[in-house]
Amino acid sequence: MSALVVFDSNYGTTESVAGAIADAIGGSAVSVSTISPDSLTGVDLLVVGCPINGWRPSPRMQAFLDQLNPGTLRGIQAAAFDTRVHSPLHGDAAGRVTRRLKSAGAHILTRPTGFIVDGKTGPLADGELDRARQWGDSIVAALAS
Ligand SMILES: Cc1cc2nc3c(=O)[nH]c(=O)nc-3n(C[C@H](O)[C@H](O)[C@H](O)COP(=O)(O)O)c2cc1C
Repeated sequence: MSALVVFDSNYGTTESVAGAIADAIGGSAVSVSTISPDSLTGVDLLVVGCPINGWRPSPRMQAFLDQLNPGTLRGIQAAAFDTRVHSPLHGDAAGRVTRRLKSAGAHILTRPTGFIVDGKTGPLADGELDRARQWGDSIVAALAS
C-alpha cells in the first residue's frame, strides 16, 4: 500500500505533525510546494495537512486543492488535519480540506482534526505530537476495519 502525507508549513510545525503521521501510517511526507495532482497516481492512502491561515487553509494548500477535479481522487482513502492556535476564533482548514477531498472522489476515513500550536511560529502544544501519532494509528485502524 502506498501512503502519502501532503503538507504545507510556513514555520515547520505542520511539517513535524506530517512526519509523525507519515511514520504512523508507514508512508512518506511531502511538501505541497513540490507536487502536483499527477503525483498522486498510485497512492492508496492520502493524508493532507496545512496550517489555518486567515480562518481557512493556507494559500499554497488552497492552490493545490483547486487543481483537483471531480474524480481525481477516486479509489483513494483520505483524511485531513490542520494546525491552529488555541482560540475560539481559529477558523477551519481540515474540515474544508476534507470536503474538497471528498468532492474529488476520495473516501474519507476519519473526521478532520486540528493540532494546537502555542503561537504563530509554533511550537506544538504539549502532547500534540503524541496525539498526531495516535491519529495516524487510528487511520490505519480505520483502513483495516
Ligand atoms: C498569515 C497567518 C494567518 C494565520 N491565521 C490563523 C487563523 O486564522 N487561525 C488559526 O488558528 N491560526 C492562524 N495562524 C497561525 C497558524 O495556525 C500557525 O502559524 C501554524 O499553525 C504554524 O504551522 P507552520 O509552522 O506549519 O506554519 C496564522 C498564521 C499566519 C502566518
